[in-house]
Amino acid sequence: MALTWTEEYSVGVKELDDHHRQLFSLLNNNLKSVIENNGKSKTIAADLKKLQEYAVTHFKTEENLFLKINYPDARAHIHEHAEFRKELQKLDTLADGTDDLARLKLLLFISTWFTKHIMTVDKKYIPYLIEK
Ligand SMILES: [Fe+2]
Repeated sequence: MALTWTEEYSVGVKELDDHHRQLFSLLNNNLKSVIENNGKSKTIAADLKKLQEYAVTHFKTEENLFLKINYPDARAHIHEHAEFRKELQKLDTLADGTDDLARLKLLLFISTWFTKHIMTVDKKYIPYLIEK
C-alpha cells in the first residue's frame, strides 16, 4: 500500500520532485500511524497536520512557478488545487476524532488524488519549463 516515488513521476523540476517525494513519504507515515496506533493519538493528529501543511506549501510553490513561466493552463490547475484543499481541510476534523476508518478512507483518497494529479495535471507544465 506504500507509495514509492520513481522517475516516472518526475515533473522536470528538482524542487517539485523533492516535494512530491516528501508528500509520498508523509502519506506513508500517516497511513502507518493510523493503522498502527489504532484510535485517538497525538501522533496521528500531528502527522495529519504535517501532511496538510506540506501539501498547501507545495501548491503555493507550484503556483508561483506558473506565474514565473507564464503558464497558460495556470487557472485550471490552481482550481484543481483549490478544490483539493477542501478535502485536506477535512483532516482537521478527523485529527481530533477517533474514527480511524474515516481517516484511512481520506488518506487513500489523498494518495490516489496525488498520484493521478502528478501524472496527468502536473505533467502538463513540463513542456513550458523546457522552453524557458
Ligand atoms: Fe499541481
